[in-house]
Amino acid sequence: MTKETNLISKIANTDFPIHNIIARRWSARAFSTKTVEKSKLLSILEAARWAPSSRNEQPWRYIVFTDDNPEKIEKARSVLLEINNYAKLAPILICAITKKTYSDNGVYNKLHFHDLGAANENMFLESFNQGLIMHEMGGFDREKAREVFSIPDDYEIGIMIAIGYQDSHEILPERFKDKINSPRERKPLSEIAFLEEIGNGLI
Ligand SMILES: Cc1cc2nc3c(=O)[nH]c(=O)nc-3n(C[C@H](O)[C@H](O)[C@H](O)COP(=O)(O)O)c2cc1C
Repeated sequence: MTKETNLISKIANTDFPIHNIIARRWSARAFSTKTVEKSKLLSILEAARWAPSSRNEQPWRYIVFTDDNPEKIEKARSVLLEINNYAKLAPILICAITKKTYSDNGVYNKLHFHDLGAANENMFLESFNQGLIMHEMGGFDREKAREVFSIPDDYEIGIMIAIGYQDSHEILPERFKDKINSPRERKPLSEIAFLEEIGNGLI
């Protein structure tokens, strides 16, 4: 963990070299209320657009709320669970949804959620590339979201996303402030990658 001024960066402590932007991405929570430039938001959404997807269906859809329209973003904030209250300061909230069927034949697309995740990760990396932070949240009221955002039945609701500039971690609730110095952790490669059969360590 390094501190530049009072901002936190939690660079991954990798066992093997990886691209800097992947190592730098992390799920920060201290959102500044500072408005994000529209050009940055567009670059982040453009990054999602270029994700790969099954049969190039591009099932991802993003319902974007910004501090440009305080009334609407307040509605978006209202679907978040209390545990995610930190994200209510963010000037951008996005509801990420995904189309369940292929558009050309109406057949169920069992990879729709996979492809949404790929596009979201592109957004995550581009957010950091733009000098912003992003947080993905599964903790929200999905039924309320379907109603508030008028989401059609053919779309599955994925996650809520908060994007903004980083503020000092001092603004965080105690339960997150306490954990701010703990390193980011991952399972070792030997537990997730196998040579030829599950359990047979690659390294
Ligand atoms: C699909 C998904 C849902 C998540 N939901 C929440 C959430 O509701 N609240 C939260 O604080 N963090 C949430 N997170 C963040 C994870 O806890 C975080 O990605 C994980 O601990 C790894 O940390 P890192 O992203 O900093 O590497 C979510 C992440 C993902 C990918």
